[in-house]
Amino acid sequence: MDKIYNSKWISAKGSAGNAVFEYSKRFFARKKIKKATLCSSAIGVYTAKINGADAGVYPLAPGWTMYQYRVQYQKNDVSSLIKEGENVISLSVGRGFLCQAVSHDGTPRALLTGLDPSGTAVICSLDLLYDDGSTENISTDETWLVGQTKWRSCDMYDGDVYDSTFIPPSPVSASVLPAGTDTLVFQDGCEIGEHERFGVKEVILTPRGETVLDFGQNITGYLQIKVRATAGVCRLTYGEVLDKDGNFYRDNYRAAKAQTTIICGGGEFVFKPEFTFYGFRYVRVDEWNGELVPDDICAVAVYSNMERIGNFHCSHDGLNKLYENVIWGQKGNFLDVPTDCPQRDERMGWTGDAQVFSSCAAKNFDVLRFFEKWLSDMRACQKDDGRIPVVVPSYWARTSAAWSDACVIIPYNLYMQYGDERIISDNYDMMRRWIDYLRNNFDDYIADKRHFGDWLALDVPDEYSGKTPKEFIAVAFCARSTKLFIEMSKILGKECEKYSEFYDFCRDVIRRDFSDESAYQASHGDSSLFTQTYYVLRLSFGLYDSDGERAELSEKLNDMVLSCGTHLTTGFVGTPYLLFALSDNGYVKTAYSLLLRKEYPSWLYQVSRGATTMWEHWDGIKENGDLWDEKMNSFNHYAYGSVGDWMYSVMAGIKPTRAGYGEVVFEPAVDERISSVSASIKTPHGTLISKWEICAHDVKFTFTVPENVPASAVIFGEKYKLSAGENVIDVKLQ
Ligand code: BGC
Repeated sequence: MDKIYNSKWISAKGSAGNAVFEYSKRFFARKKIKKATLCSSAIGVYTAKINGADAGVYPLAPGWTMYQYRVQYQKNDVSSLIKEGENVISLSVGRGFLCQAVSHDGTPRALLTGLDPSGTAVICSLDLLYDDGSTENISTDETWLVGQTKWRSCDMYDGDVYDSTFIPPSPVSASVLPAGTDTLVFQDGCEIGEHERFGVKEVILTPRGETVLDFGQNITGYLQIKVRATAGVCRLTYGEVLDKDGNFYRDNYRAAKAQTTIICGGGEFVFKPEFTFYGFRYVRVDEWNGELVPDDICAVAVYSNMERIGNFHCSHDGLNKLYENVIWGQKGNFLDVPTDCPQRDERMGWTGDAQVFSSCAAKNFDVLRFFEKWLSDMRACQKDDGRIPVVVPSYWARTSAAWSDACVIIPYNLYMQYGDERIISDNYDMMRRWIDYLRNNFDDYIADKRHFGDWLALDVPDEYSGKTPKEFIAVAFCARSTKLFIEMSKILGKECEKYSEFYDFCRDVIRRDFSDESAYQASHGDSSLFTQTYYVLRLSFGLYDSDGERAELSEKLNDMVLSCGTHLTTGFVGTPYLLFALSDNGYVKTAYSLLLRKEYPSWLYQVSRGATTMWEHWDGIKENGDLWDEKMNSFNHYAYGSVGDWMYSVMAGIKPTRAGYGEVVFEPAVDERISSVSASIKTPHGTLISKWEICAHDVKFTFTVPENVPASAVIFGEKYKLSAGENVIDVKLQ
């Protein structure tokens, strides 16, 4: 067991506000060092230095967890940093993710016993192994000092204030908290890393006379700046878009100030935030003391280290850009926790958003470890009665259909993608307790007015929840989660009869209350049941009794889409399944028409408006250039990026018929409006590649299959057996 478990949590006395505090200790290395290992963690986000050099802790460590129950610690080899004689170790900590988002949850709980509600804390253990085999340990305790730093303020929403002229008063003794170390867990998620760097693409002088830097890509991260200013202030404000007049716009950040202030005393130094991050493409230069040299500034994308496993390319530039935006949506919102958005005063682990995007996310990148860690936090914040909150780490105690169901749907999607049964067994108890909650509280749960509904659907103008009745969505998701839970129970060989009964019961409720227009009208006084999302859920969740009923539902969905001018009206709940519901039921052409539509509302509409990430609203920027209400208008929200799943699974047609692609079928859907498609997914069994190209009246398909993976292709209804390696099939275009 690492000795950090015997260390003590230390803190600055009283409230830390938003300032960063540095905890330090001088120590003496008596002999030549053979190996030195640092285990460290914090409540807040921290950096660690030995003799002023970076000790290798990743950016924004220790990540964001349910700190009340789980705090990750990091372990780094620091052998090269320690010298014989006197050394100093220091840990600096800012509040980081510890803004208001962490501590709510209905039942405020101390994050650590004895910690001031606005306080931060650190813990570490440095193990020295000398050349002669003897050892020594330096751990946080009452002998450590704590002092103020030049980081006068750092906040996840408001940004940072760095005063290079500030001379901190002498440090004082740190106080030891009466907290135990049983919440410490070794780093279980992906580490966070710095990735792409973007130089200033354009310096814009806006009509309002402001100087704005454009980095060309909406990212999550921060700026690295070589500051050469003379004494004075540099102040920068972050934004995602320009308004229709070309002016800098940031009202959609709501209460998040998202600002960097650097107070300079002259002289050159490199500035880079260490305790916060921003979501931005543009930066307004509010004050700049000295000459602004664009080459001195670059934007650094910061997100969890995930291996890229999926790729997609086709002959349509707009779709390629859309796909790239899906990837950037994921990069920008997979910063330790799957967030809704990275810029406004939110940036939280919304379960519904993660649920709808998870299948696509798991194809783009290997996200198994990323989600395993987040699901551990989900388990930690499940309520005693089984409820799963809508945000993890939790914020509110409330639940919602499609959001709380993330606890079942995400493990299932990960299992299908990676074939690792552990994701089911680790989360089995959480899923069972959630389904039990649904069984035990069915009537109240269904009737709960606080379900989010088909969030941001277009079928009710200017409203958030869409037209599809919330009760229907709730019953449909009860059925969906229960069905997947039964499937996963069978995989683990668990008894699940009572859950099959509950599933049948949900089906009966759909049949009885949500199938017949006149019955629905009679009981609810309106006929708003039949929306695109209604048909999509019935089809995608298998909520029909016969092939005839399925055909009828599909036809109605198709008619509904065509009769409104071939466009979607779906929100967060219906959109991820919409194209599948059409293409799986004989309406491939309509699905393609929706995907290829450029006019509002559509995926390509935002591409045509210059989007570099996915928008939260179909009409984030309206056709007349006006922006959607600033109350809820993110330009980096991955939910509608779930369409990437259809690109892999239907356009390229790569489908696992056994979990983890242990067996696979290629079933690409060809449409003449696209002349070629190429996609690949690296699976646990090797890389699968699917390509097709229309050449005159033929289509040439090329499928690459790894060794030992039984594979077949279905082309225009015809089945082909495939062998390992490359398979080329030429077929007449139909
Ligand atoms: C978030 C969403 C989230 C929703 C709940 C919003 O504030 O940004 O993405 O799912 O609330 O409906």
